[in-house]
Amino acid sequence: MDVPSIILAAAAIAISSLYLGKLLVRRLKFTRQLAKLPGPMALPLVGTTYLVFFVPMNGILKFMGERIKEFYPIWCTWAGPYPEVNLIKAEHIEKILSGTKHTEKSFLYTFLYPWLGTGLLTSSGNKWHTHRKIITPTFHFKILDNFMEVFSEKSEILVDKLQGKADGKTFDIFPYITRCALDIICETAMGTEIHAQEDVNSEYVRAVYDISEIFMSRVLKPWLHPDLIFYRTRKGRRFAECLGILHGFTKRVIAERKVALSGVAGTNSESSEEDHLIGKKRRKAFLDLLLEVSEQGGRLSDEEIREEVDTFMFEGHDTTAASMSWIILMLALHPEVQEKVSAELDSIFQSSERAATPRDLSEMKYLEQVVKETLRLYPSVPFIQRTASEDVRLDEYCIPAGATFTLQIYFAHRNPESFPDPEQFDPDNFLPERVQGRHPYAYIPFSAGPRNCIGQKFALLEEKIVLSSILRKFKISSTQKIEDIKLLPELVLRPEGGVRVSLAPREPLRA
Ligand code: HEM
Repeated sequence: MDVPSIILAAAAIAISSLYLGKLLVRRLKFTRQLAKLPGPMALPLVGTTYLVFFVPMNGILKFMGERIKEFYPIWCTWAGPYPEVNLIKAEHIEKILSGTKHTEKSFLYTFLYPWLGTGLLTSSGNKWHTHRKIITPTFHFKILDNFMEVFSEKSEILVDKLQGKADGKTFDIFPYITRCALDIICETAMGTEIHAQEDVNSEYVRAVYDISEIFMSRVLKPWLHPDLIFYRTRKGRRFAECLGILHGFTKRVIAERKVALSGVAGTNSESSEEDHLIGKKRRKAFLDLLLEVSEQGGRLSDEEIREEVDTFMFEGHDTTAASMSWIILMLALHPEVQEKVSAELDSIFQSSERAATPRDLSEMKYLEQVVKETLRLYPSVPFIQRTASEDVRLDEYCIPAGATFTLQIYFAHRNPESFPDPEQFDPDNFLPERVQGRHPYAYIPFSAGPRNCIGQKFALLEEKIVLSSILRKFKISSTQKIEDIKLLPELVLRPEGGVRVSLAPREPLRA
């Protein structure tokens, strides 16, 4: 080797050693800072995941609850090399969620990219900010009021299906509720009917179910994380097949709606001739509103619209279905609460069969308390994650930039500092005077701050309509015991084995 080459090689070695040295020092500082936090011992490569290797999925929350007693209120766990700082105290959660600093999601959300791309749920930075501004007006209450008709129509179909089951025999109501929620989100998000309640074998519906389930099993199995391995497994191949079905469907609907929208613009009329013929005013779906926005300023590409519509499909049905199913279970297990809800509905509707109006919904105050209390004990999204964009001080600890925060919604809602009798199901926890005295970040089923759930009003309206439709017609009971119910913290929080109830027809009490 000649002298210039030796000098060059030496310089290259020196520069890379310097660079690697810098990285090492930074990593050491990072881990040293995190080592000051309480938490179980981490092992090389596996971190603290070894603790749950043999804990079944239905025992994870119980296991974590026991660890929390040891480490409350802040502790660090390691998913292999990735640190996760767990928070449950309202003041700590507020520090992360309230501002615009820590809006970036974590590594976990990247597994949703193949389906949702970087839609509102998964995007960050400028893209998230711009899209959130564009999409927020589409959730205006006046637009949501237009969807009430869809909620009522789909609830009617659900009640019809449940009539056949109202024979006092026990059955799992969860799939019925899920199919109703799917019908609702499909029509409101895309303006298309998939008839999930009629066609239980629909290819699209099957794909939505399968993709959610496969996503979760991938997250929990680190060896399936690399694409190279995952897409070679049976589940990976099914995942790819589902993606083809789901994206194909959304893309086709977008193309069709674009054509329909240009036709409507041509006639300069709110409703098309065909709508007049079928005596139905065309309702605008989220997709139409997004298409209009993009027509006006060209601000959203077709692919971006596809990402947002798929995001609504994903976020907008599993969450509400799980929440409504838990509420049905709570009402079945607490007959005194169910009677109060039924009495409230009787006083609103008397013996009328009419659909609920916005005014009726605002009068369903006790039902709203029941919805909120059930979301406290069984939040559809049991935890969320954020990445620290800069160092954060929480009490005596300094959490370095780059660490992941896990906001433990499920455990935050069971914190006795915020809810004195946390395990007790008590809708009065949401009486206005009790809410007033509580920290605003103590109860966060829809997250909070600028990156909160954009669909929360939609969800509440939908749930009130579907639940009131069921409760106007049926009395619900269950022989399940709350202490026997095992929780599955999958993509959303579900009861293992579904929600087993029996229904009996109910006549409204006349005032
Ligand atoms: C009971 C029902 C629901 C619950 C409990 C719920 C809960 C949540 C939570 C906790 C987040 C924050 C996620 C995170 O930070 O990782 C979120 C975000 C989101 N939700 Fe919901 N959700 C519900 C219903 C809905 C519905 C019906 C829609 C749409 C129609 C929707 C659309 C979204 C979207 C688009 C985001 C992302 C918002 C952003 O990052 O800007 N959700 N939801």
